[in-house]
Amino acid sequence: MPYYHKLGQIPHKRHIQFKKPDGKLYREEVMGLEGFSSLQSILYHHFLPPRVMKTADCGPAKPEYVDFGPIRHRALRTHQTLLGADPVSARIPLLGNNDVILGVSRAPKGGMDYFYRNSQAYETWWVHDGSGTLKSQFGNLSFRKGDYIVIPFGTTWKMELNEESKFFTIENPSQMEPPKRYRNPYGQLLEHAPFCERDIRAPTELETHTERGEFEVRVKVRDRISQHILDYHPFDVVGWDGYLYPWIFNIEDFEPITGRIHQPPPVHQTFEAHNFVVCSFVPRLFDYHPEGIPAPYNHSNIQSDEVIYYAEGNFMSRKGIDRSDISLHPFGLPHGPQPGMTEASIGKTETKELAVMVDTFHPLQLTKQALEMEKPYMETWLEGDGE
Ligand SMILES: [Fe+2]
Repeated sequence: MPYYHKLGQIPHKRHIQFKKPDGKLYREEVMGLEGFSSLQSILYHHFLPPRVMKTADCGPAKPEYVDFGPIRHRALRTHQTLLGADPVSARIPLLGNNDVILGVSRAPKGGMDYFYRNSQAYETWWVHDGSGTLKSQFGNLSFRKGDYIVIPFGTTWKMELNEESKFFTIENPSQMEPPKRYRNPYGQLLEHAPFCERDIRAPTELETHTERGEFEVRVKVRDRISQHILDYHPFDVVGWDGYLYPWIFNIEDFEPITGRIHQPPPVHQTFEAHNFVVCSFVPRLFDYHPEGIPAPYNHSNIQSDEVIYYAEGNFMSRKGIDRSDISLHPFGLPHGPQPGMTEASIGKTETKELAVMVDTFHPLQLTKQALEMEKPYMETWLEGDGE
């Protein structure tokens, strides 16, 4: 979330001498997006930032997509996602296009024995189950179930998990930010926004490491992974300030916008990025018009593929969908409640559903790993007489 933040020690002006206790200079690094025209932070390092002892290429990091086939609704079962070694290496890409890659990751309690930096995309890790700490050169951020952990381009980080954890992940080569319509020209969130700055958590604890040795950093860039071996610990920052840093927003802090009749999907919007949006479906009171229908109408999202990760509760309009399933309603055909679900919703006063939705403005492709998780779905609209 772009608001000014600082941690640790920084000099009283930028770009001036800033000395260690022994008289040597700290090394200043300006880290900025869009050629120094967008968000930026200034970091002060103990060691020279460009210093790399060894480099190696670890191969391609691009998802392998398969032919989509005839246009149809799809559903993926992610409950049994394989437990990997750590959150980054366990990540499985499922759906993607040039604007975004969506995936899941399931990893055991413990840390990572390397550092990771995605220099080609923002990464958002939504915590479905588990808890831990995101450690980066900007400091530590503890996370829990329901958190959206938003990590900007170029951040070097690792995660430590307190327990086995499951994530829904969003990777995008653009910025992830709250919708512009909820912000004033200065970036501050407005009164009609479903959350405010108090709901955003920024790093609060800066650990400065000055150890020497061999430290592995895996860098994702140019759709490949490069391995860098540094001879110093990459979290050598003594202080930083600016608007660019990882931050967290918990889905429970999203205040639902409700009405007398069915509210459209944009009321659930939480973030926006280039060519897609992220929405949060949270427990809320249903529509209160005496003749209201809480389930959604059938809709043709004509220029938008709609992905929903079902987290908790009974999703109001879906049959045959279990916890951790993902549905894809692509554009090209309408979708809506399955037979009986509209009638069943009438008279209900509230929902306990919890889900994350990603709507993309260009078609998504499925990966070969997604095909392995696919479950029957189109058939669920065929029950009954079709009326
Ligand atoms: Fe929909």
